[in-house]
Amino acid sequence: MPAISTDRRHLLSLESLSADEILLLLEVASSFTEAAAGRVTPSTKLDGKIIANLFFEDSTRTRSSFTVAATRLSAQTLDLVGSTSSVSKGESLIDTARTIEAMGVDLLVVRTREAGAPAQIAREVECSVINAGDGSHEHPTQGLLDLLTIQQRFGNDLTGKTIAIVGDVLNSRVARSAIHGLTKLGVNVHLVGPTNLVPKTFEQIATGPGSVEVSYDLDAVLPSLDAIMMLRVQFERQRGNAITSDYRSQYALTVDRARKLPPDAIVMHPGPMNRGLEIDSEVADDPDRSVIFQQVSNGVAVRMAVLTRCLGGS
Ligand code: NCD
Repeated sequence: MPAISTDRRHLLSLESLSADEILLLLEVASSFTEAAAGRVTPSTKLDGKIIANLFFEDSTRTRSSFTVAATRLSAQTLDLVGSTSSVSKGESLIDTARTIEAMGVDLLVVRTREAGAPAQIAREVECSVINAGDGSHEHPTQGLLDLLTIQQRFGNDLTGKTIAIVGDVLNSRVARSAIHGLTKLGVNVHLVGPTNLVPKTFEQIATGPGSVEVSYDLDAVLPSLDAIMMLRVQFERQRGNAITSDYRSQYALTVDRARKLPPDAIVMHPGPMNRGLEIDSEVADDPDRSVIFQQVSNGVAVRMAVLTRCLGGS
């Protein structure tokens, strides 16, 4: 059984986890896949626990996924979303977090526009904190569900596999968490997109044995890939980094481009998708290659594993 080192109360990033910790979480998540899908009797591991979703930025899948995961573990959930919380009256995130904690809540799932805010909250409260996406920084549970999905296709040892993460890497917390998780597990990562959205400096951020290489030519890397992760063009985060009119012709995963992938390569996307922009519908819905809805299902299992880890239910 791999060793555990960091504070298990929180999950704030994948950068701060060791490869062994990531592998253990994936192993637990894998054991939860049947329960996540509701095919076995719900677990009572977190009976009596209360989990608050503090979402100060829009979300469909992440918030509902945490709610489903908590429900499958018999915990209760409470939703505080942007405009209905007192943060819109000017209360600070920390005060809101402390207020919710004072009611006896056991765990805060936090999504914010500000990078680093969940870590700051974690320093100020006694209860557990999970980062559900902080600005362009990290989205660790998304990174874990991406890894679990790749493992399900290629086996648990991902050493030497190759993936491309394509598009708006600069603004993507999904990409940052994926880069940390993948390279820690020995996967080689190509970051592909226009120069303004894929800075060369990203080659330095790997924290594991896998390599990170920036490339501006998607067609050149396609034949070498085991997986391709398309990113949403994040219009709401692009201050002066807007995409140009040739974005689609150069970086979209079109039907023609998908034909250049090896036969067993998989297609991933964290959602929500801009269909017809970064990815063609035919590719997103290709039953042989696309694992996009499998990623969503795996999100529940991964969040069950993370909730259990943080609340000491394992
Ligand atoms: C992502 C997010 O919000 O960071 N979505 C998600 O959680 N699945 C990606 C995105 O918004 O593009």
